Amino acid sequence: MSERLKNKNAIVTAAGQGIGKATAIAFHNEGANVIATDLNEETLKNLNKEYPKIKVQKLDSTNKAEIENFTKTLGKVDILFNAVGFVHHGTILECEEKDWDFSFNVNIKSMYFMVKSILPKMIEQNGGSIINISSIASSIRGLPNRFVYGASKAAIIGFTKSIAADFVKQNIRCNTIAPGTVHTPSWEDRVKASKDPVQAKKDFIARQPMGRLGTPEEIAAIAIYLASDESTFATGNIFSVDGGMTI
Ligand SMILES: NC(=O)c1ccc[n+]([C@@H]2O[C@H](COP(=O)([O-])OP(=O)(O)OC[C@H]3O[C@@H](n4cnc5c(N)ncnc54)[C@H](O)[C@@H]3O)[C@@H](O)[C@H]2O)c1
Repeated sequence: MSERLKNKNAIVTAAGQGIGKATAIAFHNEGANVIATDLNEETLKNLNKEYPKIKVQKLDSTNKAEIENFTKTLGKVDILFNAVGFVHHGTILECEEKDWDFSFNVNIKSMYFMVKSILPKMIEQNGGSIINISSIASSIRGLPNRFVYGASKAAIIGFTKSIAADFVKQNIRCNTIAPGTVHTPSWEDRVKASKDPVQAKKDFIARQPMGRLGTPEEIAAIAIYLASDESTFATGNIFSVDGGMTI
């Protein structure tokens, strides 16, 4: 532990598994006081059992009232890590209105609620770092069968840049991380749900020039940098960590 986040208070969403969980643990290992939030109480309980100093809070990031009540319980917030996201599979022809609404609600409206609720605290404190998880499937690359996922993940990039521009003078930084394909529980589910899981696995790996998937810890590593004072000159940017997908 090198304490790069010593004395910082961090909120992490979607922290029950995958990238959110790895980031909550990485922030904790770097000395931050972490509140890990997720919709899934079971996975949060397991995280708390493993890391008793990580506080856990069941929170639906799409529920405005729940978020506002949660924010009222918080003291200083230095870091907000927004990781909630859902992958809808298909082209525009397979995307019904309900799929569009669900994806935009989970992938970007959730971030709007979280930032809108917590940002006033950061303004009052005169500082903070907001990190939003987008994807390479966004405005960076068009990938097959990622229509509404890509559209909503592209929105996160505009959302991030806009917040960065509006609050740069208040010492608030807002950046986005765009991961390539990362080995997480939901990725496993996507492989299992495909028509040919063996081929699906091969295809996911083949689109990574490094010939392998990323790990949640490899995404958490850049999150530490963006959350820490090492990145105080970085705002409004996209940090792609993608095994070479965008070379
Ligand atoms: N895994 C990848 O290959 C990959 C690649 C690029 C970007 N991403 C993005 O990274 C983020 C995390 O993905 P992952 O694969 O690590 O995690 P995951 O999909 O395995 O887990 C998602 C977590 O979010 C929680 N969640 C879902 N809806 C929620 C809500 N409304 N409120 C609170 N929590 C909710 C779930 O309970 C779960 O714990 C997502 O935004 C995803 O789009 C993932």
